[in-house]
Amino acid sequence: MIDRVISVDEPDFKSVKQTAENHNILHVIPKSSYLLPGFTDLHVHAPQWPQAGLALDKPLNEWLQTYTFPLEAKYQNLDFAKKSYQSLVKELLANGTTTVLYFGSIHTEANLVLAQICADMGQRAFIGKVAMDNPDQTPDFYRDNSAQEALEQTEVFIQRLQKLQKETNSELVPVITPRFVPSCTDETLEGLGQLAKKYDLPIQSHCSESIWEDQYAIDRFGMRDAEVLDKFNLLTDKAVMAHGTQLSDSDLDLFNERNTAVAHCPISNIFFGSSVLPVRHVHDKNVELGMGTDIAGGYSPSIYRNIQQAVMSSQMLQDAGTRNARITAANAFYLATVGGAKALHIPTGQIKAGYKADLQIVNDQYSDVMSNNENDIFERLIYHTTKSQINEVYVSGKQVINRGENNGK
Ligand code: GUN
Ligand code: FE
Repeated sequence: MIDRVISVDEPDFKSVKQTAENHNILHVIPKSSYLLPGFTDLHVHAPQWPQAGLALDKPLNEWLQTYTFPLEAKYQNLDFAKKSYQSLVKELLANGTTTVLYFGSIHTEANLVLAQICADMGQRAFIGKVAMDNPDQTPDFYRDNSAQEALEQTEVFIQRLQKLQKETNSELVPVITPRFVPSCTDETLEGLGQLAKKYDLPIQSHCSESIWEDQYAIDRFGMRDAEVLDKFNLLTDKAVMAHGTQLSDSDLDLFNERNTAVAHCPISNIFFGSSVLPVRHVHDKNVELGMGTDIAGGYSPSIYRNIQQAVMSSQMLQDAGTRNARITAANAFYLATVGGAKALHIPTGQIKAGYKADLQIVNDQYSDVMSNNENDIFERLIYHTTKSQINEVYVSGKQVINRGENNGK
């Protein structure tokens, strides 16, 4: 069995058609099937899976308080957690997603249930115990009761996940996870920055997702959201910040200096982002970008759907007057593969010697009736692939999905 792959050149965001031309997709037997790198999803709220596609009718803060916090609170119940997480992890793998950066809930035990399921199903998973202890912004029924509790439970989770990783010999990594600045007290933000340093861990949070969040940081700290995170040592080269639709040029300079990445969540941003993230501009500012579904601010578990939306949103941004905003399918594919891998510092996302064999075998449904020019095939796969066309998925060379076995279900 291979756990590393054999082949080709560095894909590059700028060279539009290079992904296909570089054979980052490879033709395999049987005819009309293609081998693509598995996707990295840089932003999933695992406990929100039961409301994917529901309850998207309110702005961010009202959505959190009305629907999302009550749902996440249910993960106290481990039977509920197990059923929901088994469904989610299976669904993401079936959609070609081989690496995921997960927000869990506040509950240490339920987060470990998620970790065990990822280990059992063979998904590479970065998982965070959500820290949220600010009584002004979180409900009594769903909060860490104090900064001390948030920090203690984060540390317990780190140690138990690392133990589980060793016992199962799986690809699990704990992540420092302040929900976002409004949810946390200063003491928690400070302590989480210290824990990230102590254990040398990745960090995830939300930054400047909405006009509301941006203004909140200014009202509470007299600083921009990114500056607040930086003040607490939460912008590092291992940090991934979701959304960033409201990031200013000075924020992007700060991200660049700290080598912090952005998780672009194009479907979710339509509902909560207050605008479209200017992907090309962020890329030109030398800030690393990957792709995120943001389940369940985004309703779809499919990175294909998010790639499609990233291209469509960029076109609308250009139509609304932003020059040079448009990105291509190859650019968005780069985010979902190479970009996400770089953000997490793992050798995946490319079909290339020495890289992890994280792969998907995808059927090209329309080869009989459409152009078989190589770039056309690539775009067709990007726009038409659903999980029904993803026949096999591999993580580090181990098969994790085989649709033949499931009779196509
Ligand atoms: N900001 C804080 N929490 C959340 C969340 O659960 N989803 C999104 N999209 N933004 C958030
Ligand atoms: Fe989110």
